[in-house]
Amino acid sequence: QELELKLEMLEKGGFEHFMLKEIYEQPRSIKDCMRGRIYPGEGKVQLGGIKEFAEKLKNVDRIIIVACGTSWHAGLVGEYLIEEYARIPVEVEYASEFRYRNPIITEKDVVIAISQSGETADTMAAIEMAKERGATIFGICNVAGASIPRLTHAGVYTHAGPEIGVASTKAFTAQVTVLTLMAFYMAQQKGTITASKMIELLTELDHIPEKIQKALESNDIIKEVAEKIKDSRNCLFLGRGSGFPVALEGALKLKEISYIHAEGYPAAEMKHGPIALIDEEMPVVFIATQNSSYEKVISNIQEVKARKGKVIAIVTEGDTEVKKMADYCIEIPDANEAFLPLLATIPLQLLSYHIAVMRGCNIDQPRNLAKSVTVE
Ligand code: G6P
Repeated sequence: QELELKLEMLEKGGFEHFMLKEIYEQPRSIKDCMRGRIYPGEGKVQLGGIKEFAEKLKNVDRIIIVACGTSWHAGLVGEYLIEEYARIPVEVEYASEFRYRNPIITEKDVVIAISQSGETADTMAAIEMAKERGATIFGICNVAGASIPRLTHAGVYTHAGPEIGVASTKAFTAQVTVLTLMAFYMAQQKGTITASKMIELLTELDHIPEKIQKALESNDIIKEVAEKIKDSRNCLFLGRGSGFPVALEGALKLKEISYIHAEGYPAAEMKHGPIALIDEEMPVVFIATQNSSYEKVISNIQEVKARKGKVIAIVTEGDTEVKKMADYCIEIPDANEAFLPLLATIPLQLLSYHIAVMRGCNIDQPRNLAKSVTVE
């Protein structure tokens, strides 16, 4: 038994839990995910797994993304990126809903199925249906050779390495990285980004692993924030633009491992309901980085403060505006808006982790959850 314990310690690489180890692996896993795929100097993206379909992507009218859980959140980030850069309309669907509707799918459609395990039953059923109706199916999976990569026509692996913690962390950021690469690749095929813009974006993307490393350095501050809000019964996560799926993912992480009721919302929707919940007991986590929605988010923070809510803000390094209003600020490095989800997710993963540890929860195997859901 002692040997078993030692073996487990070894597997965790000195970390107390797999989840923490996997959070800290992200600078490396994202690098692995981009290896051989981006050429910043030439402003080029190469995705061997889907290159056969390069022509098809030039004329595709619509992309449908299907996934479940955290992978669905990655899909929402993908929607922002593909629409912004490749100018292709995107719909993001819960696989479990999509499979039981009678969706309109044609041979012209490209369906992207996202799955860490590659075994999720609902996602597989959605793929089968779309395939029968003639769509081209791409997969974004982490587990090589799993069922989903075998079902799809083509795909791009995330190469995040095995993820043991039930709550997905490094697989999510790798999915977002692949979707970023796909958005740029499609933009390249369609000519919707200029060569100089592509060089600029890829050069910055190439340095994202270092910025993630920097984001991880806020761990001590995050732990302090966790201590302040660990006894809350509810928590709200708000963001706008691509900060919205980040808010959803932040809320999901907290629910999954700490059992605190959490909701993610688009910040502007707060006034249509969640604002009624705000009082001095309610922590509200804002994605308040300096990007196109910064000013709008600031006014949403003021609305929460006016109702005595406790504000925790994820801000851009050096921010002074939000700091005047928020109760706690957690800094992340500045980056192009395209890469915001990759960075802003990191402190939310750590926040959930520390809260769950403080509450004595089972971090790597939360109650009632499974790593891979092979039943409906
Ligand atoms: C389960 C896991 C989640 C995961 C979801 C989808 O609920 O606990 O972490 O996001 O399934 O799994 P997939 O393997 O398809 O990404």
